[in-house]
Amino acid sequence: RIEDVRAREVLDSRGNPTVEVTVKLEGGGSGRFSVPSGASKGKREALELRDGGKWLRGMGVIKAVRNVNEIIRPSLIGVDASIQPLVDDILIQLDGTPNKSRLGANSILGASVASAKASSDQMGVPLYKYLGGAFSRVLPIPLMNIINGGKHAGNELAIQEFMIVPVKFKTFKDALFAGVSVYMELKALLEERYGRHAVNLGDEGGFAPPMKRTEEALEALVSSIERVGLEGEVKLAIDCAASNFYADGKYNIDGASLTKEELISFYERIVDEYPIVAIEDPFHEEDLDSLSELTKKLGHRILLVGDDYFVSNERYLRKGIEAKAGNAVLLKVNQIGTLTEAVRTASLAFRYGYRVIVSHRSGETNDPFISDFSVALNCGYIKAGAPARGERVAKYNRLLEIEEELGSVASFSQLDTL
Ligand code: PGA
Ligand code: ZN
Repeated sequence: RIEDVRAREVLDSRGNPTVEVTVKLEGGGSGRFSVPSGASKGKREALELRDGGKWLRGMGVIKAVRNVNEIIRPSLIGVDASIQPLVDDILIQLDGTPNKSRLGANSILGASVASAKASSDQMGVPLYKYLGGAFSRVLPIPLMNIINGGKHAGNELAIQEFMIVPVKFKTFKDALFAGVSVYMELKALLEERYGRHAVNLGDEGGFAPPMKRTEEALEALVSSIERVGLEGEVKLAIDCAASNFYADGKYNIDGASLTKEELISFYERIVDEYPIVAIEDPFHEEDLDSLSELTKKLGHRILLVGDDYFVSNERYLRKGIEAKAGNAVLLKVNQIGTLTEAVRTASLAFRYGYRVIVSHRSGETNDPFISDFSVALNCGYIKAGAPARGERVAKYNRLLEIEEELGSVASFSQLDTL
C-alpha cells in the first residue's frame, strides 16, 4: 500500500522545469518518475500544467508539484499500488476533466508511473516484466531521428524528423550499433558537404544542418547508409508533423505551396524513390480524410503513423480506425496522462491490427521508462531519438540491458510490412 507521494521540480533536457514524483510503499518499495514534455504538441493532448507569467517564461511547474503534494497525495495514501487501474482511476476521478486540465497531466502521470515503479520495486521484478508479465520478450526496432527539422531545429526543413530504421538484424544490439555507425558517417558527410556548423545537434540529438529541401535530407541519409555498407538493412522513416507547415489550406514545403492532392503525390513519389518504411503525421491533425486516402494508397507497403492525430487517446484512435486512417499509433504516455489509459489505447490498436510505436518526447529526462514499457507491450517499435545526448542514450542503454537480461529468450522485432 502507498505510504507516501511526493513531488518536486527538476529540469528536463531542454532545461525546462518538470515534475518528478516519488512514491513510497508501506513494504519499503519505492519508485520515482520524471515527466517528459513535447514541443510540437497535438491540439487534443491532455493538458500539461505550467505556471504561466514572466518567471521562466511561464514554464514553471510549481502548481503541478503542489497538486501532487496537496491533492493527489492524500487520495493515494493507503491505496494498493499493485492494482494500477485502481490507482489511475482515483487520479482520473480526482481530476474530473476530459483532458486533465484541473490537476495537469504532468502531475497525474508522475504519480501514475512512480506508483507502478514502486510496486515493481517492492516485488523485486524488473519494470518491463512487472508491466508486461512473463511473456515480455520482444526488443523493439528503434526509429532513430538523426536529422532534425521543423520545430526541433533552426533550419528550413519543413519535415520535423528524418529517421533511420535498422530492420534486418538478429538482435537489438546489432541494430542499435548499425544505427550508430550510420549516425557517425552522417556526421562526416555533413561536415564535408556543409561545413562544421552543420553538425550541431537539435533537440532529439539529431543533426540540424542548413538544408532546405526534404530530398536533400533523404539523400544524405541514403548516402551515409551506403558509405557504411548497410543498404537494405537500414531503412528510413519521417515524421512530417505536418500541422506545423500547414496554413490556409496549403502545405508549405520545399519552397512550394502544395494542395493535399499534390502532397499525396509527393509522398507516393518519395516512397518509390527512397527506402521509406514509415511516415508519421503526413497531414495536419484535423484532416483524417487525407490520412485515409494515403493509407489506401500506401498502407500495404509502409507504416502510416498517427501521433498528433490520435494523441495516444483511445477515443481518437477509434475514430481513426473507423475511417481506416493510418495503420500505426504513436504512444506517448504524457499525451494521455495515466498508464492504464495508455495501455487501453495500445490494446485497441492491437485488436484492429494497428502497430504501436512507444515514443519519447523532444523534452526528455534520463528516465528510461519507455524502454521497459515498449518491451512490456511486446509492441516491437520505439522512437527514442538519435544515439546521442544523455536523455536519449539512457533509453537505448536500458534496452541493451534488458536484452542481456532476457538472454536467449529475447527476440528482436521484425518489420512486418517488408
Ligand atoms: P514532440 O515531438 O515531443 O516535440 O511533440 C515528437 C513528435 O512529434 O513525434
Ligand atoms: Zn510526431
